[in-house]
Amino acid sequence: MITRSRSSYLKALGSDVWVRRELAASSAPGEVSRRAVTVNEMDWEELSAAVSLCTKCGLYQGRFQTVFGVGNREADWMLIGEAPGAEEDRQGEPFVGRAGQLLNAMLTAIGLERSAVYIANILKCRPPSNRDPRPEETLCCEPYLKRQIALVKPRIILALGRIAAQNLLKTEAPIGRMRGKIYEYEPLKIPIVVTYHPAYLLRSPTQKARAWEDLLTARRLLAT
Ligand code: URA
Repeated sequence: MITRSRSSYLKALGSDVWVRRELAASSAPGEVSRRAVTVNEMDWEELSAAVSLCTKCGLYQGRFQTVFGVGNREADWMLIGEAPGAEEDRQGEPFVGRAGQLLNAMLTAIGLERSAVYIANILKCRPPSNRDPRPEETLCCEPYLKRQIALVKPRIILALGRIAAQNLLKTEAPIGRMRGKIYEYEPLKIPIVVTYHPAYLLRSPTQKARAWEDLLTARRLLAT
């Protein structure tokens, strides 16, 4: 049963309300009950369905498909990038283009397989011409990422690049100032290590040594 008061209350608070169909123990055989759920109550299946149907900001108009996230849903490491590029939009998976190949090599260097970590982005849709995400777009997408983080419950978050770091930490500080310190994803007290975006490292390979230091910092943190 949909409880109308709960549904209208959630809507009044500005929450997107979805309806969960469930076989309630009290239902007659074959009867399906329905319950209003918000994004922060969704399970993986509901969340990925909600993302795939999302039209909350204008980016849905230009996407080929949404890019939800990939990897081990019980990972210790969660890597968060900016937004899908052309290749990610085409394949429906984060970090599969040139930057993704470098990311995979970085993971291998630290002794991690790509399949052992969970990878997601701040935005689930590709911005046109890979421009920076706009504040209204990141705001629309934020509940999805928050729910992904809550479901994975990683032991560490690696913020890949300025956009990821600024959005996760709610700051406008430049990445050069954010690197080298350990932050916290406040809602769940998860440590965040900020590093350069692999696409930036492709353009500025001399910074790879710093990114390596960041990975070591993250690994050390996990070992404690
Ligand atoms: N850059 C990102 O930030 N994310 C991707 O998925 C691909 C490139």
